[in-house]
Amino acid sequence: MGNDILKGKRGIIFGALNEQSIAWKVAERAHEEGATFVLTNAPIAMRMGEINKLAEATGSTVIPADATNVEDIDNLITQSMEILGGKVDFILHSIGMSINVRKGRHYTDENYDFTMKGLDVSALSFHKVMQAAMKHDAVNEWGSILALTYIAAQRVFPDYNDMADNKSYLESIARSFGYHYGVAKKVRVNTISQSPTMTTAGSGVKGFNEFINYSEAMSPLGNASALACADYCVSMFSDLTKYVTMQNLFHDGGFSNTGVTQEVISKFSD
Ligand SMILES: NC(=O)c1ccc[n+]([C@@H]2O[C@H](COP(=O)([O-])OP(=O)(O)OC[C@H]3O[C@@H](n4cnc5c(N)ncnc54)[C@H](O)[C@@H]3O)[C@@H](O)[C@H]2O)c1
Repeated sequence: MGNDILKGKRGIIFGALNEQSIAWKVAERAHEEGATFVLTNAPIAMRMGEINKLAEATGSTVIPADATNVEDIDNLITQSMEILGGKVDFILHSIGMSINVRKGRHYTDENYDFTMKGLDVSALSFHKVMQAAMKHDAVNEWGSILALTYIAAQRVFPDYNDMADNKSYLESIARSFGYHYGVAKKVRVNTISQSPTMTTAGSGVKGFNEFINYSEAMSPLGNASALACADYCVSMFSDLTKYVTMQNLFHDGGFSNTGVTQEVISKFSD
């Protein structure tokens, strides 16, 4: 049951592929909190049709858009305002993909066409979404725009491959665009750096099962779940966080500030 903290707010949610998706949980929680929104994903991701279940459950319209395609994004922004009856208050960018990771290309042996595609999908798309939103004046004052990221943007996690570079770029776009959007329209822009989470994108990373266990043991509170991430997103879309902008916010049970835990140390005792 919600507390209506998003009552009257309108939004656009990218990236709900299936029930495991973080964006799926955000949509469910935002609906519980009284928001109305448009759901969007790449046309190819809609073939399975799962998103229609979510649309039905949340009373939402689905608009297909490839987040790398400027025309698709323009159309999404204008159509969303028509459907929702005005400007939006929040946007969630929950999109990530690396072809090098998918095809098992080592970081030191990248295929640069794959690299450029992954960068476009995972990072530049965030800029494209905000540029289109700003041009169409599609976001209300004090609106909140979020993208999801991972700590591999700051520290080396070897199997995260070129997604680490994509996430660094994504976080930088949040800071830079956050400055301009803040000055021009009082719109805030942040990234949430989430614990490893068992989703389609997450489990594409080599050795993910072992890694998620390692992360659990290295986090004083344990790994944050997708549902907990959705709660955090809802709080960031609400008016309770109005002066938070241009930040990379760790939502990771304390992992990012932990050097080692007793649990991990004890695994090395003789
Ligand atoms: N799962 C994790 O461990 C984890 C941890 C930290 C951050 N994240 C980030 O969370 C976000 C959501 O991922 P998830 O874990 O929920 O996985 P997911 O696979 O459910 O979501 C990724 C989404 O990106 C969409 N997408 C891919 N290419 C697209 C395109 N061209 N246009 C529009 N959409 C496109 C996919 O269709 C999918 O819905 C990603 O940015 C991911 O990097 C995930």
